[in-house]
Amino acid sequence: MSVKKFLVVYVGLFSCVGVSVQRPPKITEHPIDLVVKKFEPAKLNCKADGEPTPEIEWYHNGERIIHDTPNRMILPKGVSLFFLRIIQNRREQDTGTYWCVARNLLGVARSRNATIELA
Ligand SMILES: *[C@@H]1O[C@H](CO)[C@@H](O)[C@H](O)[C@H]1NC(C)=O
Repeated sequence: MSVKKFLVVYVGLFSCVGVSVQRPPKITEHPIDLVVKKFEPAKLNCKADGEPTPEIEWYHNGERIIHDTPNRMILPKGVSLFFLRIIQNRREQDTGTYWCVARNLLGVARSRNATIELA
């Protein structure tokens, strides 16, 4: 069977069973650099397109952010990283470099870097 014929059958099969054509993640909104005053709130956004809908992960200075803290939470579906207030002390540092990663079974996309700095 030719490649073209194969594709027609393949795509046709998927549309028949109501499954949309799968595609790898693509970042559609990148987080942007912020300059924030100490103890002020801040929010970084990340949106990604893909099928199945990608899972979004957040990284701070290269480390995956897994747990929420009292002042920093990952909003549902990972579309935002929200800071109730920006903290900078010996134990906690919200400043630095952030990025998000969108992942589905077809691939991975990484956003641009965004920095949070104190004003
Ligand atoms: C983003 O930041 C990380 C960690 O600081 C660095 O290793 C990487 O090269 C940066 N990537 C870009 C595209 O600037």
